[in-house]
Amino acid sequence: MNKAMLAPSMMCISEWRGAEKALDELEKGKIELLHVDVMDGIFVPNLMIGTESTKNLRKASSIPLDIHLMIERPEDKLDWFDIQPGEFVSVHAESTKHLQRVLAKIRSYGARPMAALNPATPLCMIEEVLDDVDAVLLMTVNPGYAGQKLVVQTLDKIRRLREMLDKSGREKVLIEVDGNVSFENAVKMRAAGADIFVCGSSSIFCKDTPIEENIRRFRACVE
Ligand code: DX5
Ligand code: ZN
Repeated sequence: MNKAMLAPSMMCISEWRGAEKALDELEKGKIELLHVDVMDGIFVPNLMIGTESTKNLRKASSIPLDIHLMIERPEDKLDWFDIQPGEFVSVHAESTKHLQRVLAKIRSYGARPMAALNPATPLCMIEEVLDDVDAVLLMTVNPGYAGQKLVVQTLDKIRRLREMLDKSGREKVLIEVDGNVSFENAVKMRAAGADIFVCGSSSIFCKDTPIEENIRRFRACVE
């Protein structure tokens, strides 16, 4: 089993209030990745985190970025993000006709390519690119908004993907889960074989308890 990694969702931090304090708490909590949701209003019904905010975040924190591109034709826009070696970058299989080409381009920056799938998209869509990725991102809600409910059938999808990867000798390929990764759901997702957890409003940024305490509680759920 790969080590569990936490990737708090930056769209859950307000850009105008308390962002610096929140980033500081994430650094103290030894968070592995910062999840950056990029939405273009076409691939998903929302607009979110642009190129400048992404570059500013890179300057504001030493934690590596995990950039989730929910945009049409990502191949035309990759260069806008100034992608750095070691960063994770995910592209949706549904968003491009040339998935393999986009993944190879991400690799050419020294970054870590990831293929992403919406809940309704079958695993066979990425079968032919498993050698081109370091990880697969499975959406566990329909992308676009924070605060949604888990699409329950994605739990079995995580399990089937883990089985597919392990059986083909790709144990090191990571599975990232994104959407309603609550404390309770995280336990089930870990048991199914997930490695990277996008932590949003249902865990690390839940309003009732401090971030520090939420990080500790989350780690206990997945370690
Ligand atoms: C969409 C986002 C959301 C969100 C996660 O791609 O990544 O899934 O921020 O947070 P919650 O816990 O609200 O689903
Ligand atoms: Zn995301």
